[in-house]
Amino acid sequence: MLSKALQDRVQENPHTTEADVEAGAKVFQRSCSLCHGADGTGGDGPDLTRGVFRHGSSDAALFRNILTGIPNSGMGGIYQPDKSIWQVVSYVRSLSRGGGEEEVPGDPRRGRLLYMSRGSCSDCHRLNGSGGRIGPDLSDLGWRRAPDHIRASIVDPAESVAADYRTVEVRTESGAIVRGVLRNEDRFSIQLFDEFENLRSFQKTELTAIDKPEESLMPPLGSFFRGRDLDDLVAYLYSLRPE
Ligand code: HEC
Ligand code: HEC
Repeated sequence: MLSKALQDRVQENPHTTEADVEAGAKVFQRSCSLCHGADGTGGDGPDLTRGVFRHGSSDAALFRNILTGIPNSGMGGIYQPDKSIWQVVSYVRSLSRGGGEEEVPGDPRRGRLLYMSRGSCSDCHRLNGSGGRIGPDLSDLGWRRAPDHIRASIVDPAESVAADYRTVEVRTESGAIVRGVLRNEDRFSIQLFDEFENLRSFQKTELTAIDKPEESLMPPLGSFFRGRDLDDLVAYLYSLRPE
């Protein structure tokens, strides 16, 4: 049997026509966009538009990772005929901007200082093991997200609230309002992670209102970061990669 590395080199995608890319786009919207974003620029799963992949960038590596998923990660495999998987590979390739990393204008070292000093980012975000837990861990943000998304997240967080971080606001019978990130909900109960990092659980019968505003728990911070400052902060966050 050929070694995995050799197989990767010899096997090429047999389905690469324009029509294949279109068919792959449909599969992608159905099975992948939830985690990788409708345009492939990332979400809970990484940005796929770089054209370079940590787990292998050859056709065969992409095929294998999409077919079987990636062990011990959020990414499971998909049950589809080989042809559909090759078509998704073609689609993923079509997203590629080529050349790996996107050029960003700012200075990441200065951005790091801004991150630590302005906007209270670490009250809500973990980075390399320290910080709050209300928002997503940012330690590998630059791998998961494209620069445009990072920029928009800071200036206008409500525009694309991360799927696992929907805001919920409940009112108890005594009139208290509790706001947080929705963790779980069924017919009878609702759980949320409140602004003080407590996991709160309510029976729906004890609540007089449940509201899910289309906004982020993260305040828009565009007024703290403009022009060069914003460029530097984005450059820093984009430089954050997994170990
Ligand atoms: C439930 C969320 C989820 C879904 C659905 C999902 N992925 Fe992923 N995907 C991930 C995560 C998380 C990773 C990162 C795995 C790791 O390395 O820890 C990943 C990694 C990948 C990688 C490897 C990236 C690299 O740098 O090597 C590719 C390629 C990929 N996904 C493509 C797809 C495609 C195509 C689909 C749809 C058929 C899909 N994914 C569906 C979450 C998901
Ligand atoms: C009050 C808490 C809070 C503060 C302060 C805060 N954030 Fe957030 N942030 C969140 C929450 C909650 C989310 C997830 C919801 C969303 O996507 O808007 C988030 C999302 C993000 C995202 C998108 C992450 C992703 O995976 O797509 C980025 C980037 C980000 N924040 C950066 C920052 C930076 C930089 C600062 C400081 C300048 C900051 N945040 C300050 C709570 C906060």
